[in-house]
Amino acid sequence: MKLQNIKAILGVAFFTTSAWLSIQLTQAAPPDPVAGKAKAAMCFACHGENGIGSSPEIPNLAAQPALSITYQLIQYRGQQRKGSGMDGIAQALSDQDMRDIAAYYSALPPPPAKSGNAQLIEQGKQIASAQFCNSCHGAQFQGQKHIARLAGQSETYLITQLKNIRSGERVDMDGTMGSAAKGLSDEDIKALAAYAAALN
Ligand code: HEC
Ligand code: HEC
Repeated sequence: MKLQNIKAILGVAFFTTSAWLSIQLTQAAPPDPVAGKAKAAMCFACHGENGIGSSPEIPNLAAQPALSITYQLIQYRGQQRKGSGMDGIAQALSDQDMRDIAAYYSALPPPPAKSGNAQLIEQGKQIASAQFCNSCHGAQFQGQKHIARLAGQSETYLITQLKNIRSGERVDMDGTMGSAAKGLSDEDIKALAAYAAALN
C-alpha cells in the first residue's frame, strides 16, 4: 500500500468531531436571527415563538447556545440522533437554515426557573457537583459552545435524555456525555433534572 493511501486512511480515523463540525459549518453567510425567526415559524407549534416547549416532552430552545442547537440539528438530519420526528423535520433544513434558526432561539430570554421539591433539588445540586457536570454545562448550567443549556429545561425532557444517553439509545458526539451518564442511578437522574429545571 502506498504511504499516501495509509495516510488517507489514518486521516479519516483521526478526523475529530471538531474538525468535522468546522467543515460542516464552513463557507457560510453570517447567522441571521431575523431570517431565523421566519424559518423557525414551522417550529413554533412545538418549541414556541418564545423558545418554550409546548409540552413536557418538548425541550425549551430559548437561550440554548447556538452551536448546541446547530449541532443537534445536524445530528438529527444525519440520523445519528432520532426522536419524536425531529430527525424527519431536520431533513428539510440546510446548514444556513440551522445557523439562522439557532441564532434566533439562542438570543431569546432564558426559560424561567421552575419550583420543585427542595430536598430533591438540593440532592441534585450535590450530585452535579460530585460528578463535575458544571465543568462542561457551566456554573449555572447555562451551557456553552456545543454543550446544551440545562437551566430551566423541562424536567421530563431531561430525565428522558439522561436515560437515553445512559443506555446508549442516544449516541453523543464524542462519548464524553455517555461516560458522564453511565454511573447515574434513576434516583440521581431524577434529582439532577429537578435541580437543572430549578435554575435560571
Ligand atoms: C411536532 C413537534 C416538533 C416540531 C414541529 C419541531 N420539534 Fe424540535 N423537538 C421536538 C421534540 C419532541 C424534541 C425532543 C426529541 C428527542 O427526544 O430527541 C425536539 C428536539 C429538538 C432539538 C434538540 C434540543 C436539545 O436540547 O437537544 C432541537 C435543536 C430542535 N428540536 C429544533 C427544532 C427546530 C429548529 C424545528 C423547526 C424547524 C423543530 N425542532 C420542530 C418536537 C418538535
Ligand atoms: C465532559 C463534558 C461533559 C460533562 C462532564 C457532562 N456533560 Fe452533559 N453533555 C455534554 C455534551 C457534549 C452534550 C451533548 C451530547 C450530544 O448530543 O452529542 C451533553 C448533553 C447533555 C444532556 C442533553 C441535553 C439536551 O438538551 O438534550 C443532558 C441532560 C446532560 N448533558 C446532563 C449532564 C449531567 C447531569 C452531567 C453530570 C452528571 C453532565 N451532563 C456532564 C458534555 C458533558
